[in-house]
Amino acid sequence: EKGGFDHFMLKEIYEQPSAILDTFRGRMLPNEGIIKMSGIEDNMKTFLNANRIIVVACGTSWHAGLVSEYIFENLARIPVEVEYASEFRYRNPVITDKDVVIAISQSGETADTLAAIKLAKSRGAFVFGVCNVVGSSIARETDAGAYTHAGPEIGVASTKAFTTQITVLTLIALRLARAKGTISSSEFRHHMIELELIPEKVKKALESDAYVKTIADIYKNSNNFLYLGRGYNFPVALEGALKLKEISYIHAEGYPAAEMKHGPIALIDENMPIVVIATKKGHYEKVVSNIQEIKSRKGKIIGIVTEGDEQVKALADHVIEVPETIESLTPLLTTIPLQLLSYHIALMLDKNVDQPRNLAKAVTVE
Ligand code: M6R
Repeated sequence: EKGGFDHFMLKEIYEQPSAILDTFRGRMLPNEGIIKMSGIEDNMKTFLNANRIIVVACGTSWHAGLVSEYIFENLARIPVEVEYASEFRYRNPVITDKDVVIAISQSGETADTLAAIKLAKSRGAFVFGVCNVVGSSIARETDAGAYTHAGPEIGVASTKAFTTQITVLTLIALRLARAKGTISSSEFRHHMIELELIPEKVKKALESDAYVKTIADIYKNSNNFLYLGRGYNFPVALEGALKLKEISYIHAEGYPAAEMKHGPIALIDENMPIVVIATKKGHYEKVVSNIQEIKSRKGKIIGIVTEGDEQVKALADHVIEVPETIESLTPLLTTIPLQLLSYHIALMLDKNVDQPRNLAKAVTVE
């Protein structure tokens, strides 16, 4: 049932082009200029009247929530707060009936996320679910929702759930942006056309697999990794580090690139591999100067760059190319080589890729 792949994780990484397509198919019609999702249409007033959106989630789903913060704020101009469900539920948070809570969960069974939803509902908030598992507890507990349609995710390390969550959240943000008039109809159409191209571009990003494997081989015995990114790709850095930690048991940290000089830069020496997401769109020059700082401290630089990049290539020890897209969609591409890197390192270290120690696919206890 692994469809010819050695592991579920690899199969699920390779399923992303079709999973993302399944997520937007039928919901987005670029030619007609339409995005329709019943969970949004039926509650449009609630969304448009909301003072803010509070996202609650755990782990990888929380990272997707962080990406959505940039998407919602940029496109729909709705303030967003992203909370760890486990912290939110015990914090006596200020919530009112003017808040919309979006709960993100692949399994739909995460105990902390479920508890956060119940708390938000009890205080009058409207709760919208973004789940993968149909009919799951979270899907049932929420007031409305949208499924990711990623298909079953078996590997404990979440991969296609992440990219399809970002896809659904992008559709929601675009739909709300259009309704609010915060983007023009041509920008709206442009975003849809670019999203439609993403499955093919993910396929291209997957072509880096063999090269990523050679990088994995070089750094597999490192004790620490740093992952850096800015803007939309800051959460991708966090996600890349989480993937490496959970399946290869190598310590890794994700950081916003500019925070490096507030501490983590002290860690950098010739033994430290640093994965830097430096795509052309979004703070590129600033990230390039961060790369220069790393280089002068002899850190080993693995750049995730836009196809045809020259500047980072001249500085980095290795560059992995991903196709060009609009800034808000870059996470869907930059995350691919990071998934592959963690997969290959874990495999080379002989770890159980699909069922890492101490972890469960769905964390149903707090
Ligand atoms: O099913 P959920 O999306 O609610 O799960 C949340 C986390 O437990 C999950 O994303 C976890 O962090 C993954 N193992 C990460 O790969």
